[in-house]
Amino acid sequence: MKRRSILRVGGAAVALGAGIPLGARLLAPAQPGRLLRSTAPAPPRFRTPLPIPPVLSPVRVDASTDHYEITQRPALLEILPGLRTAAWTYGGSFPGPTIVSHSGRRTVVRHRNELPYPVVVHLHGGHTPAASDGYPMDMVMPRMPGMDHARDYEYPMNQRAATLWYHDHSMGRTGGNVWRGLAGFHLVRDDEEEALPLPTGDRDIPLMITDRSFGEDGSMAYPDMHDGFMNGVLGDVILVNGAPWPVLRVDPVRYRLRLLNASNARRYRLRLDPQPSGGGALVQIGSDGGLLERPVAHDVLEVAPAERFDVVVDFGRYRPGTRVRLVNTLGDGGAGDVMRFDVLGGAMKDESVVPARLSDGVPRLDPGRAARTRTFLFSQSRDGNWTINDQSYRPGRALARPRLGEVEIWRFITDFHHPVHVHLDPFQVLSRNTGGPGAYDAGWKDTVDVRPSEAIAVATRFTDYAGSYLLHCHNLEHEDMAMMADFVTA
Ligand code: C2O
Ligand code: CU
Ligand code: CU
Repeated sequence: MKRRSILRVGGAAVALGAGIPLGARLLAPAQPGRLLRSTAPAPPRFRTPLPIPPVLSPVRVDASTDHYEITQRPALLEILPGLRTAAWTYGGSFPGPTIVSHSGRRTVVRHRNELPYPVVVHLHGGHTPAASDGYPMDMVMPRMPGMDHARDYEYPMNQRAATLWYHDHSMGRTGGNVWRGLAGFHLVRDDEEEALPLPTGDRDIPLMITDRSFGEDGSMAYPDMHDGFMNGVLGDVILVNGAPWPVLRVDPVRYRLRLLNASNARRYRLRLDPQPSGGGALVQIGSDGGLLERPVAHDVLEVAPAERFDVVVDFGRYRPGTRVRLVNTLGDGGAGDVMRFDVLGGAMKDESVVPARLSDGVPRLDPGRAARTRTFLFSQSRDGNWTINDQSYRPGRALARPRLGEVEIWRFITDFHHPVHVHLDPFQVLSRNTGGPGAYDAGWKDTVDVRPSEAIAVATRFTDYAGSYLLHCHNLEHEDMAMMADFVTA
């Protein structure tokens, strides 16, 4: 039965793809990918209240470890009003439940696979032993006679507070699996961060931004790559925490917004509209790998797939009653809007502060002491494949063998837009072409947006775990089309 429904979903995908005139839409280089147009009517903007993914409770807690369980299963979700969308989910919702770990406390997540295909779970940003890192061939099989369809992923959580996320990482199928709903937040907290007077509780909000397209019947079909989507699949409905263009009513106080671009291929240039007078509304306090040393105020944020920007917005800078849209100036039509914040009235106490110094956890990796420099060229081969150093991904072939504890300089060079992601440990951006790091490169990063014909140098240092890890483009269509490489730490 399940198999049949999947085939039907596949059929819808082909039909949708066929509806798009060939070459109808060449996107500006700022936004690689091809738009998959919805045939369902676009839902009204700013009507749906912003959902907050539920925080998962552990099934068991012992002296050293928190144990969680997640069942991956199909679910019918109401994403567009009045329509049902068949999704693949972590525990029945999209996004999946949020896991909250404390640094240093081991977290074990048992994933049970009730989906009709093998799956792989990766904790993005996790400092994870290779056996639990979600290597693309390391699958959790579906329920079949005589096969184990569950698996424990073990996370030591020896890492600083940060906004991580978990998502599917199946060989060649990550794009479709994430598109259908396999993504969730995993937050790490630590004592250093908890001692800061930052906004907390319901003023600390994770925002997972994705774009999707919907068939007439509400289906969230993923297109066939052969229909010209190998540059990336773009949707025309923007979802935040799984809801189309939602709205959040906010008190006139500071909020911490943990922005995650979980889209397959879409880049965003985010801005608040209107801006408060004086500008600098998006006060960045953290990046992929946790708190920055000091806050950085931005008017706009460019966010490539998989990047996280942790920002504080003070809605007290707006007059009560102001409707503040979060817009995407790289998107047109519906993709130009993300969500809205409606500022409520009334005097509110706000004890939160953004301290001038946030963290001691960002010591500089000294490139002058690098053991070696490696260069990775991200490019398209003549036969159209996405490659790294002219190689299509082959599991088991290592393109680099860094030694644990050594600083190295890794250079990423591209022909096209590629958000480059490195597993195991975050890195620090040293330069873009001949200049220094860009405006969005501060702190510990695990994904860096490399623009067409750009050369970026980063300082890496891998620690603790020997094994096979991945380096890849996080445009999920590029990743699935083999723009991925193993590196082996020892
Ligand atoms: Cu977010 Cu290797 O992935
Ligand atoms: Cu990752
Ligand atoms: Cu790419």
